[in-house]
Amino acid sequence: MTRGDPAGVAHLYVHLPFCASRCGYCAFVVEVGREESRDAYLGAVLAELARERAVLGPLETVYLGGGTPTLMGADRLAALLGAIRPMLAPGAEVTVEANPETIDDALAHALVQAGATRVSLGAQSSRPHLLEVLDRRARPGDAERAVRALRHAGIGEISMDLMLAVPGQTTADLADDLAWVVAQDPDHVSWYELEFKEGSAIARGPHAPPDDDLAADLYEQAVQGLEAAGYRWYELANFARPGRECRHSLAYWHARDYLGIGVGAVSTLGGERRRNAPGLDRYMAALAAGDEPPRTREAVDADTRRRERWMLGTRLDEPLDIAWAGAPDHPDALDALEARGLLERRHGTVILTRRGRLLQNAVVQQIMDFA
Ligand SMILES: C[S@@+](CC[C@H](N)C(=O)[O-])C[C@H]1O[C@@H](n2cnc3c(N)ncnc32)[C@H](O)[C@@H]1O
Ligand code: SF4
Repeated sequence: MTRGDPAGVAHLYVHLPFCASRCGYCAFVVEVGREESRDAYLGAVLAELARERAVLGPLETVYLGGGTPTLMGADRLAALLGAIRPMLAPGAEVTVEANPETIDDALAHALVQAGATRVSLGAQSSRPHLLEVLDRRARPGDAERAVRALRHAGIGEISMDLMLAVPGQTTADLADDLAWVVAQDPDHVSWYELEFKEGSAIARGPHAPPDDDLAADLYEQAVQGLEAAGYRWYELANFARPGRECRHSLAYWHARDYLGIGVGAVSTLGGERRRNAPGLDRYMAALAAGDEPPRTREAVDADTRRRERWMLGTRLDEPLDIAWAGAPDHPDALDALEARGLLERRHGTVILTRRGRLLQNAVVQQIMDFA
């Protein structure tokens, strides 16, 4: 157990890094190919889970993320979820990330049998030219087939990831994606703005990101379209049918403790942030030798915690309790931002208005100092 969570940590993330190829925009800890290492990797993850077992309380949420978790295959995923099952609280949310082209009827059934309650499908777009720019292997029909297979298998919830501000994307493309995703009728949608991450292939050219005005228009169009279709805009990039918010992601935004296991995984535990190092071989070798994986540890000091709570809490469509988050660095900015209609204050809480949420990063930078 940790000082932060006397009842034990209730949120577990497992990183499964294997991918068939690296998409040009992706800067996550990913291992291309390495099929021969997947059994050993499963063994290493199970060993790390056993080492950390004592900090875990009944798990409210589990998230198998990647990489492409579904490339672990049905048997390994069943073994992993089988090891986690005795730790689950009743009604726990168990999400598996999946790339559409990896889901067929057999795998969809296997995921449900193994205890997955939710699948997050990385669709990204229905527009072939945008999938091309993003280096995606899936074609639009793959996501549609995956949704059908998952529904047929009886999965509890389906989420779909989409991307906006993709080079070459127009408002007409976005309208097509909107109509397409609404037609798939997922329970939840994550619609991320494409980030040009340092070191990623897309950042080296030849494509340029759309200008800021077009990116802002595309974002607003996505928000309005999904709201019109009955989704709640509960976080800047996340939309849910009522009651279908992602409980695992909410735990991050509420700054709860979580345990991350696997190569490159991050944990926040009792005021400490731990980062497992990248490097599959070193990770597996350490655990095979009975050691902890190579990792860094840093204390999350009071100032960092305060700034993180403001940054994360203002992403949500729920009031942020100032006494819980901690004092703002620039209290006068709250008056100015309220006068400009960007936030509202009530009974010791702050909530961004719709306009404030569209500009959240700029708004929160005026309230808090970030390094
Ligand atoms: C790390 S991926 C893992 C899931 C799966 N492999 C996939 O590609 O769908 C999770 C999600 O992160 C988002 N993502 C990854 N890189 C991003 C970037 N540079 N900018 C914005 N979103 C990104 C994508 O929407 C993706 O679906
Ligand atoms: S975006 Fe997903 S599929 Fe593409 S490289 Fe990253 S983790 Fe792998």
